[in-house]
Amino acid sequence: MQLREYTQDDVRGKRVLVRADLNVPLKDGEVADDTRIAASLPNIIKLHEFGALISVISHLGRPKGEPKPELRMEPMAKALERLLKAQNCGLSAVRHVPDCIGAAVQQAVAAQSPDTVLLLENSRFHPGETKNDPEFARQLAQPFEVFVNDAFGTAHRAHASTVGVVEHLSAFAGTLMMREVEALSRITENPARPFVVVLGGKKVSDKLPLLQNLCGRADRVLIGGAMVFTLARALGLSAGKSLVEERHIDACRDIIADYNESATKLVLPEDVTVTDDIESPEKIANRRLAEIEDGEMGVDIGEMTRDAFALQLSEAATIFWNGPMGVFEHKPFDAGTIAVAKAIADNTEAYSVVGGGESVEAVNKLGFADSISHISTGGGASLEFVAGMELPGLKVLAE
Ligand code: 3PG
Repeated sequence: MQLREYTQDDVRGKRVLVRADLNVPLKDGEVADDTRIAASLPNIIKLHEFGALISVISHLGRPKGEPKPELRMEPMAKALERLLKAQNCGLSAVRHVPDCIGAAVQQAVAAQSPDTVLLLENSRFHPGETKNDPEFARQLAQPFEVFVNDAFGTAHRAHASTVGVVEHLSAFAGTLMMREVEALSRITENPARPFVVVLGGKKVSDKLPLLQNLCGRADRVLIGGAMVFTLARALGLSAGKSLVEERHIDACRDIIADYNESATKLVLPEDVTVTDDIESPEKIANRRLAEIEDGEMGVDIGEMTRDAFALQLSEAATIFWNGPMGVFEHKPFDAGTIAVAKAIADNTEAYSVVGGGESVEAVNKLGFADSISHISTGGGASLEFVAGMELPGLKVLAE
């Protein structure tokens, strides 16, 4: 996919609205993980060097069309200012504007100096944002001349600030957007083989389109996380009291049948870690997948599986990973996720892409980030991209 990229002539001296994805975790009102904010810097700095006047807009959380004090953008403005100052790029201040449309924005833009970035208020405080309401999109665009979308993490949403606004302004893809599409295209278009995918997380329902799309494209799809147990039930196995999405057992049965007829191997864990209770376990054991007992729940991939997955990953030439292998936030049920993160980092020959909050958190926490070829800022967006779905935010930026 070719996206429209801006040149200096497109933005010099212009009022530019930048859509970024600054939807980051907060703790006690402070930014808890600034990865996405840091990822938005290169585009902002490039626009500044090209002589643009920059206003940034983002959503935060899901406020359902109403202002929510705890979802205001002030902490993101502070974090963005701190990160920009550290870059010594000539941008010295980030000013938080208390709305994203109307007089507040117009006055701030009129008074803006080129060394200041404006950060507009949470776009989802207005119901028109998620409805992609044309009038709201017009109001968003009104003070600006150019639109640059750098929010890959939100490219799967057809919202006013990702799609509607394009009707009114000349629109381009930002540098992060370009980089994400290029990196993920290496996974979807002619990946070097063997192409090994690791999928985890709680819900198989979130991954069904991806599982369908990978069938016949990947060489192996290694499955971990609680999604294992809905697939196990589809195979007629008992899952004890593990998390199972009953409504999706039939869909899993169809997927297993499709994989059986294809060249792609769907690999379920040979063994899993089971417990009686996640919060206060009295029993923790390693069980074969087919031997989970009543009253036990699977909470991680087992010891044999960790080694088997590590071996498959050591032989891969292309790797895509999304989703933890177990209840990563509760030790010792993080062992499978750690083993997979380490195996991917150890294979420095392979082209590796990691996407999704918890898998990215794992590689960052373990200090493996530098050994991964590309860490995606998109969770749902990277899944939909690799699943071959059309992302509305990208479609409107295509050449
Ligand atoms: C994300 O965190 O995946 C993006 O910011 C999109 O958020 P959303 O799922 O609330 O639309």
